[in-house]
Amino acid sequence: MCGIVGAFSRRGAVLDGMVEGLRVLEYRGYDSCGVAVADGERIEIRRKVGRLSELEKLLADGALAGARIGVGHTRWATHGAPSDENAHPHSDGSGRLALVHNGIIENYLELRRELEAEGRKFSSETDTEVLSHLVGRELARGAKLVDAVRTSLARVHGYYAIAVMSTGAGGGLVAARQGPPLVVGVTPDAAYLGSDVLALLPHTRDVVYLEDGDVVELSPGHYTVTDLAGKPLERKPRRIDWNAEQASKGGYPHFMLKEIHEQPDVLARTAFDRILSDSGDVSFEHGDWSDERLRALDRVQVIACGTALHAGQVARYLIEQFARIPVDIDYASEFRYRDPVLAGRTLALAVSQSGETADTLAALRLARQLGATTAAICNVMGSTVVRESESTILTHAGPEIGVASTKAFVAQVVAAFLLAVRLGRARGTLSVEQGRELLDELRRLRPRMEALLAPATIERTAAIARAHVDAKGFFFLGRGVNFPIALEGALKLKEISYVHAEGYAAGEMKHGPIALISKGMPIVVVNAPGAVADKVRSNLHEVKARGGHVISVGSDAASHELADETIEVPATIEALSAVLNVIPLQLFAYHHALARGCDIDKPRNLAKSVTVE
Ligand code: AGP
Repeated sequence: MCGIVGAFSRRGAVLDGMVEGLRVLEYRGYDSCGVAVADGERIEIRRKVGRLSELEKLLADGALAGARIGVGHTRWATHGAPSDENAHPHSDGSGRLALVHNGIIENYLELRRELEAEGRKFSSETDTEVLSHLVGRELARGAKLVDAVRTSLARVHGYYAIAVMSTGAGGGLVAARQGPPLVVGVTPDAAYLGSDVLALLPHTRDVVYLEDGDVVELSPGHYTVTDLAGKPLERKPRRIDWNAEQASKGGYPHFMLKEIHEQPDVLARTAFDRILSDSGDVSFEHGDWSDERLRALDRVQVIACGTALHAGQVARYLIEQFARIPVDIDYASEFRYRDPVLAGRTLALAVSQSGETADTLAALRLARQLGATTAAICNVMGSTVVRESESTILTHAGPEIGVASTKAFVAQVVAAFLLAVRLGRARGTLSVEQGRELLDELRRLRPRMEALLAPATIERTAAIARAHVDAKGFFFLGRGVNFPIALEGALKLKEISYVHAEGYAAGEMKHGPIALISKGMPIVVVNAPGAVADKVRSNLHEVKARGGHVISVGSDAASHELADETIEVPATIEALSAVLNVIPLQLFAYHHALARGCDIDKPRNLAKSVTVE
């Protein structure tokens, strides 16, 4: 939701590194930003509504360039509209303290009243400023910074990732985590922290993922972790093999386009080392995926949000088809509050790119409390969802910066395919031969994905997208594994073009939504040869008969013949058609948004990882 950075250096000049860190983290929230630095007793705060470029204008005078310690923040507003006053960092008015925060302080009003009653003056509408005053009050009572932070956090209910700096005796840089992620890295001359490892990569690849309840004290070359009570905790660094180049745009105009083009490699990195051709099976590295554990299951409960949920919906079709085990799926935000019943021995499968989505994490914890065994399909090894799951299928998509998820989605669907094969082989519903055939077809996907990314192919899709740049609304229709793909295609368009687009089960249109079809309305129909291809064709007829303008996407030639426009996709087995069919829909949304002049990588109102509910 927000991006946090911090640095403490023996040799000074932390500002530029912090600004670069904020630039990398802007995808997490970008309605305002700010930094606080100190070079001696006085702390200087510069903050501004708007993008990082606005803040950089405030820093251009170079006055803060020599500072040795600092914190920074890029905000996605929760309490208090985007404004200069509500931008972070916040202080307590003493000039000796600055604090940045990601999350929500649920009891902030009660605490604010208590502090105002003591005469403390507030200058913002944020919940965060309450934290500044709590810490400032402890400092004024003579506490060291780390003790002031621990005492203050003991009063707080809610989610937080915070970084606090103070000057004077007992001052320094302290951070703490309860919910949103925080990562720490040290070098011989400095210490760094950030909401995402990407902000630390230019400094170090050896990082420590803080855990919930951790409080960390940082100084050049050192970090000390304790719990809220002050008990020391052991947090070992792990090496991150992503390099900064992977997180850069690599010559593409937008991260989203770069990440769409990375998908053939993502398929290879996520799948190919896990395929056991001889046995027609797959192997996963993290946790127990043995026949014994998987045979003991009675059902699977998928929990996820947004695009990850669409991947979970594809997983349901694949797992039920290959492993003949019932699969339930629910929005994590619904599952966590509907007092769910988990019958029998359930595998709770969390699907998440970031591994920090608050709703998904809460639903996973609830499923575990209800007795489920847990697993994750996730893109970030050190993330909370991974650390709280008994087993993990890591999607090797690399850092995904574009807020609209693309390569992570494809990786999730590929991981789900592998899981469905593993479950089918473990439960004996897939023979060795069947497993081999499925996995061979998975290997053959890569050149087909490359074909979809050829310039001429992309241009055909782009031309169709541009032709509908003024459409007031879209339908995306599909059945079977392509129903979630229709949902995903609609979501991509909504997210980056800000145009109404509805993904719908093709067979459901006649039960009401078909009334919405007006002459010329673009209807994207996603189809593939297989069990429901003819049914989708019938639905295509139905919408055409009412004046809809049909754009046929997929490898079903008969559908293309019926359509007004076509986006052809190489053929593959129906179970894998979802992986290919989503690519032209990603490109359709990209070029439609480009034609509308929308911000591709940082769409309005969104954030990459929704770490609050
Ligand atoms: C993806 O395009 C969306 N930005 C969003 O729906 C995302 O998929 C969702 O917030 C879940 O995030 P996660 O995969 O990191 O849990």
